Parts: sequence; C-alpha cells; structure tokens
Amino acid sequence: METVLSGMRPTGNLHLGNYYGAARSFVKMQDEYNCFFFIADWHSLTTHPKPEDIQRSARTILAEYLACGIDPEKATIYIQSDVPETIELYLYFNMNCYLGELERVTTFKEKARQQPDNVNAGLLTYPTLMAADILQHRAAKVPVGKDQEQNMEMARKCARRFNNIYGVEFFPEPQNFYFGDHAIKIPGLDGSGKMGKSNGNCIYLYEDEKSIRKKVMRAVTDNGPEAPNSEKPEVIQNLFTLMEIASSKDTYDYFNEKWNDCSIRYGDMKKQLAEDLVNTLAPIRERIIEFSSDQDKLDKIARMGAEKARESASATLREVRKIIGFKVY
Ligand code: TRP
Repeated sequence: METVLSGMRPTGNLHLGNYYGAARSFVKMQDEYNCFFFIADWHSLTTHPKPEDIQRSARTILAEYLACGIDPEKATIYIQSDVPETIELYLYFNMNCYLGELERVTTFKEKARQQPDNVNAGLLTYPTLMAADILQHRAAKVPVGKDQEQNMEMARKCARRFNNIYGVEFFPEPQNFYFGDHAIKIPGLDGSGKMGKSNGNCIYLYEDEKSIRKKVMRAVTDNGPEAPNSEKPEVIQNLFTLMEIASSKDTYDYFNEKWNDCSIRYGDMKKQLAEDLVNTLAPIRERIIEFSSDQDKLDKIARMGAEKARESASATLREVRKIIGFKVY
C-alpha cells in the first residue's frame, strides 16, 4: 500500500472550505492508503506563538480532524513535535540545501516581506523541515494545494540529492497528490473568492446554529435576475454552490428554477440554505464538542499516533545513519 502524508498547520478552527477541500478527502484516503496525518506545530514556531497557545491549538485541530472522521485506527494521526526523529533528518537535509535556492522559494519571500523584523532561519528552512516530515516515512504521495508546489519541489530535491550524494536509491521522490474530483472549492459568503480564514468569510465546523443562520442571512446577493435563464453572477453562483453541498437535489432544483423564471426570493433561499447547513454541520459539531471535552482521550490518540509515527521514522533514520556513515547501535 502506498504511503500518503499530509501536514496541517494549527492555525485556528476548521471551516467548510477545509472540510470539503481536504478533511473529507483524508477520510476517504485512509481506506485506500497507508496514511500519516500530522499537525505541524514546529512549523508554526516561525511566527513565535505564545507557549500557552501551543498545545491548545494542536489539540483543537486534532479534535476537529477526528470529528471529521479521521480514524486513528486506520490512519496515523500525530503531532509533529511528538516525533523528535524528524529533526535529525531535518539536520541532514539542511546540509545538502543551499542558501540561494531556499531564498528563492516564494513562500519564504512572502513571509520575509510580511514579517521583516523576524526573517529567521526556521522560515528559510521551512522547506527542509517539510521534506523531513515527508521523507521520514518515505511517503510517495502528499496531498497539497497549489501554494505548496515549490515546497514539494524542494522535498523532491532533498530526496534526489541524498540519493545522488550517497549513490543509493533510498528516498522516493514524493509526488503532489491533488484531491482531484474529491475536493470541492467552497466559496465565501462575501460574494467573491473562496472561503478562507484570512478573508473573514467562513462558516466554521464548530459554529452554532444561530451564528450560521446569521452569517448566511447576511451573505452578499444582487438585485435579482434581469432576464429568464440568465447566467448567474458570482455572488449568486456561490449560494447555489453551497446549496449543492448542503441541500437536497430537489431543493437545489427548486431554487434554480426560481432563478430561471425570475421569481427567486433570496431571503427564502438563504433561509433554506441556512437550515440545510445547520443540519449538515450538526453531527460534526457534536463530535467536536465530544472530543474536545475528553482531553484524556485526545492524549491517548496523540500518544498512539506518535508511537506509530516514531516507529516509522526511526526505521528510516536507522538506514539514513548507516548510509551517511554514522554508527548504528
Ligand atoms: N506547509 C504546509 C502548509 O502550509 C504544512 C506542512 C508542513 C506540510 N509539513 C508538511 C504539508 C508536509 C504536507 C507535507 O499547509
């Protein structure tokens, strides 16, 4: 079975976009691949989070992914900082990567622009840590978004270089794994672009009924269709896309017809959409609350994941140490 690995930065709560864009695909993948899903809390240190926030953010995201259906019996779900083996591999990769190529990574340049007073070496070597995350399990496939392409290219370089320097064929070159048909791009509620935390247009998975209704009722619309069967402008298409994921086909068709014959009332449509979103999210929200209220269980799951991940990583590291020339006991 091929190994798939994905890393999630613990940067807040999951929203609908994360669910349909990634989490739901992970749930499918765990049946088809040997999956590692981990929470990249070391990577989050590049922005110097407060010590009291570190564990809470990791636990929050852990509870939410579990609530989405990641099954710790099927997949290995762990917290990056629980697997110290990663750092050893990170050190080796850093010896084979060059300042110039790391400086050319777009995400580094962007971050350097955003935080000019904190252009630290961790930011520069973000891609080599990511390579270590992936290659410690010798993962073949990594589900990533477009923004991670250059980091993936660096991971392949790390694998290739290591193999070339030592004349071995040890590391596979990990491939980007697009969610393909599984993923649905979820639009925001503000009429443009996709749902994203930085856009402030999200519906969160843990969000309560009242708040979901309020957000949907406030979603941007227009003055209505001007002629029968006209093309939908983006703001309206977005509502229909949300309806496609949350509502029944009958409901969707009903409002689509209303749009086509120009009798649509956005207020009615939003009320229905809100109702259906509330119902779609209710079971996930319940499970989030359940997992979050049982920290012992979360601890146990995290420990179990860490053990499995360490086992996989130390097997790799043992070989790596031998290849490099270190003594292995
Ligand atoms: N860089 C990824 C992101 O920003 C998170 C990440 C860290 C990751 N290590 C990884 C993703 C390894 C895939 C594989 O989303």
